[in-house]
Amino acid sequence: MTLPKAPVSASLAFALCALLATFVQCGNGRVAPQDPAPALVVPKDELRLLISGSMQGHLEPCGCASGQLGGLARRLQHIGEQRNYDLLLEGGDLVDGNTELDVQKLFTTTQVLFGEHPYDALGVGPQDLLLPRAEWSAFLAGAPVLTTNLTCADPEWPGKPFVEKAVRGMTVRVASLLLQLPAELDQPEGAVQRTDPAAAWAQAFADAAPATLRVLLAHGDDTTIRALIPALAPAPDLVVGIDRDYIEPSSAPQMVGTVPLLFAGIRGRVLLDVRLSRETAAPRATCELVPLAASKTLPGGGGDPTVKDMLLQHRLQVAKDEIREHLARQRPTPNGAAYVGNAQCRVCHETAFAGWQKSKHAVAWQTLVDAEKDQKRYGWPVTHYPDCVGCHTVGYRQQTGFVSPEVTPELLDVGCENCHGPGSVHVDMGGESKLGLIGGVTPSMLCVQCHDFEQSPTFLYSDFWPKIEHGREPDQRK
Ligand code: HEC
Ligand code: HEC
Ligand code: HEC
Ligand code: HEC
Repeated sequence: MTLPKAPVSASLAFALCALLATFVQCGNGRVAPQDPAPALVVPKDELRLLISGSMQGHLEPCGCASGQLGGLARRLQHIGEQRNYDLLLEGGDLVDGNTELDVQKLFTTTQVLFGEHPYDALGVGPQDLLLPRAEWSAFLAGAPVLTTNLTCADPEWPGKPFVEKAVRGMTVRVASLLLQLPAELDQPEGAVQRTDPAAAWAQAFADAAPATLRVLLAHGDDTTIRALIPALAPAPDLVVGIDRDYIEPSSAPQMVGTVPLLFAGIRGRVLLDVRLSRETAAPRATCELVPLAASKTLPGGGGDPTVKDMLLQHRLQVAKDEIREHLARQRPTPNGAAYVGNAQCRVCHETAFAGWQKSKHAVAWQTLVDAEKDQKRYGWPVTHYPDCVGCHTVGYRQQTGFVSPEVTPELLDVGCENCHGPGSVHVDMGGESKLGLIGGVTPSMLCVQCHDFEQSPTFLYSDFWPKIEHGREPDQRK
């Protein structure tokens, strides 16, 4: 069902009538007074919402480049400074995996989101559902977790069909729809079941007063969300799309019929500051982006101190629990061979090795060691934090890959095998088996797996390759 778009003049005329009612007999089929005052401002009840989604475990920017955006400490500082958001909404997909590390990230994130400035609603994304259920349910018990079209037999399941809040005489109700279950859970007898999104939406609003503002957090891709919106009755006043491929958030709502649609972006880098109201029948939303740069917060602020302390505790705990070691060697290597370390390659690739040794890749581990000691920038055990170790060592999380500086000293730094793949077979065969590039990708696709838009915003293959250029030895050229 789509509501007809109300002509602006209708609401204006109505407001005028109300305003002039004491002087002029209005309505009764009579025409409104002549010459209305120019640029009359219609008083409007607006709701102010702060929206984000798809944090994917990015509790803080990594610091690999300057000027990075995001982080929970800056976000909560921003909320504390503004103090006038009516509704704080986090879309979901708080994490990006289901390991021991993700469980600890979830714990810390829920403490932050429901601590000092408690969030009003938390959507649930496909990644969240893959977390170990017991921990997920326990950490979120009592939190406003939205699972409008999901059911679960688990009695501890914290999901609710909607949350409602009264704000300055307005009522707003928020629901969350998951348009596709992750493949692992999409089974007829699975613990979590997905129900029809449009039916679940209708049910969630069945007893809502017509004036209630209706907000939807929709987990799915652009096409699926757009196809769903016209099927929703009553029509939403705002739809927020949460889609991991939608990296940058929307700077203005896109209209699907009369319904404003916004995308939340990813990693909590840029938040949406949305003002929402309903004029006669159709909703109206405007949106401003809040990029969470260090300078966004008060001078010297740089993040909410309580949140910063929670993040520090998280990091210390991760180191103490030796999660770096637990996550090591869990996955197969890309080509089935074993990692051997650069020294082995040097034997036959002297020139390439000499070139590598002069490159920054050869100091990638030392960079972490230095960062760890730098109290101003880090001051926490980055060399033990799995997210940092991944791109600054060889083969982390894969069989035979990096475990720790003590166990695998030959696999520190970004080495030959980060790019060419595990070399044991190639070495054993004196170079007779082909290595190529890891995953068989093109060179530039290889680089951006680590040099992504956050770690390396200035990355251009044509600028960066010359700095690490190398090749075959003269005697290997055929
Ligand atoms: C025993 C000598 C030897 C060792 C050790 C060795 N290589 Fe090679 N490598 C060769 C020879 C010989 C060739 C040329 C083979 C050909 O193309 O016929 C070669 C070619 C290559 C090539 C280009 C062809 C291809 O397979 O893609 C790469 C890349 C390469 N080596 C990487 C490495 C890496 C990384 C290591 C260490 C893990 C390593 N090599 C260790 C002898 C060696
Ligand atoms: C496994 C992750 C990884 C991959 C893949 C990777 N890099 Fe890097 N690269 C790094 C890290 C980490 C650093 C930072 C090292 C440091 O400064 O400690 C870096 C630094 C560099 C630098 C130095 C930048 C500067 O500030 O001077 C260049 C150049 C570079 N990489 C080029 C490349 C190119 C070209 C590719 C693809 C062929 C590539 N890298 C692939 C991780 C990677
Ligand atoms: C996705 C891969 C990736 C991850 C994850 C990653 N790094 Fe990096 N890091 C890089 C790359 C690539 C560079 C080089 C960037 C460039 O010069 O363009 C780099 C550079 C750095 C630098 C050098 C910055 C400078 O000012 O010279 C530091 C310090 C650093 N990383 C620390 C960390 C820490 C701490 C973490 C974990 C919180 C981390 N990295 C996680 C890829 C990564
Ligand atoms: C950051 C990624 C990266 C690292 C680290 C790296 N290489 Fe390479 N290597 C490349 C790329 C990219 C090419 C070019 C491939 C192409 O043009 O198809 C290449 C080319 C080569 C070639 C020639 C390949 C051919 O088919 O002619 C050899 C040999 C080689 N590398 C060996 C090494 C050795 C040995 C090391 C370690 C000392 C090393 N590489 C480290 C990315 C890397």
